[in-house]
Amino acid sequence: MTASEIRALFAVASRPEVVSLAGGMPYLPVLPLDSLAEELAQVVAVDGMTALQYGSAQGTAELREQICEVMALEGIRGHADDVTVTVGSQMALDMVTRIFCDPGDVVLAEAPSYVGALTTFASYQAQVVHVQMDDDGLVPAALDAALRSLRAEGRAAKFLYTIPNFHNPAGVTLAVSRRTEVLEVCARHGLLIIEDNPYGLLGFDGQTYPAMRAYDPDNVVYLGSFSKTFAPGLRVGWALAPHAVREKLVLAAETATLCPPTFTQALVSRYLDQHDWKGQIKNYQEAYRDRRDAMVAALHQYLPPGCRWTHPAGGFYVWLTVPDGLDTKAMLPRAVSQRVAYVPGTAFYADSLGSQQMRLSFCYPTPERITEGVRRLATVLEGELERHRTFGSVSPRVVHGPQSPSPDTA
Ligand SMILES: Cc1ncc(COP(=O)(O)O)c(C=O)c1O
Repeated sequence: MTASEIRALFAVASRPEVVSLAGGMPYLPVLPLDSLAEELAQVVAVDGMTALQYGSAQGTAELREQICEVMALEGIRGHADDVTVTVGSQMALDMVTRIFCDPGDVVLAEAPSYVGALTTFASYQAQVVHVQMDDDGLVPAALDAALRSLRAEGRAAKFLYTIPNFHNPAGVTLAVSRRTEVLEVCARHGLLIIEDNPYGLLGFDGQTYPAMRAYDPDNVVYLGSFSKTFAPGLRVGWALAPHAVREKLVLAAETATLCPPTFTQALVSRYLDQHDWKGQIKNYQEAYRDRRDAMVAALHQYLPPGCRWTHPAGGFYVWLTVPDGLDTKAMLPRAVSQRVAYVPGTAFYADSLGSQQMRLSFCYPTPERITEGVRRLATVLEGELERHRTFGSVSPRVVHGPQSPSPDTA
């Protein structure tokens, strides 16, 4: 196990003078804390005897039923018995990897992919094979090619790990027409899909995409979370899995935590029951849309020619490719000294690619701070280009991730 690059950055990026475009912290000021405090008091006063007691390793029946209603928004017809409540979807990722992977096993993941998944796969000594994405998400033909090439080597992957909606870090969404193609490729190769979907309800035009699990209940393990639609500090997520996998998940959950916290489950249940949670999601969507707009406008206004970036329709992140010859990891200390932070692209690859990319988060800072952060970043990039012109290339030219032409170029 090694510390992720994001962890190491947090200490520096959280200084007040630094505009952090690095972390992925939800914008909690839009939460109605007063009414939540009342609901919390009710959890203790009314539900205390169960909410403060040990509970079932699978999670409370009430919350599992409610989770099925949440998933129905994405076309999923799930049964509460197939849901396992977890301590954030991160725990579900850890358990799925523990169940399926022995050291040396292969896992397929998009290029780039979520850093928390990559560190989990590494901790079980699974080998990640990245699959190409473009502006429409995972490329089905590339997935097929990766599986064929593994087969030619006499190897097979254990599962495909994919984030179809508002990808972390790439900011792209898997086109609806591609969802069935990906499912078909996986079915042909007998490959299980782990569909990680914490951002699916955070589309900026209010659109929700059909989950892959909605098409194929037998071959998809769906991971969900209340971290982005409610609050991450509660640590409540879940896995919806085919029955045989669900049985193993409950056994794995028992050894990890005995049971997920009954207290935060009770709070989430009460919140879903008593509160306008769909209205709250709309408030989040609006806050993030304003921030996305500020970031994209500032990128257009300030960044030097040769940069290109994705245009997210939801979620928290923009994926930026910098001009040839620049190295986002090498320039990070100079960016921090200019009081702006981001995450270098290398954090999102198991094979150290991504040195020409960075992830920019727009979820937390105000639109004004985002504009200022991008302006500072542009100054850093201009300086790097000047160094490059003077001293030559500082890094090999490696380009990965969404690459297809997009109107968002400078
Ligand atoms: C793609 C993805 N999966 C999983 C997680 C973990 O979320 P949770 O807070 O539910 O553990 C995150 C958090 O940022 C994420 O971006």
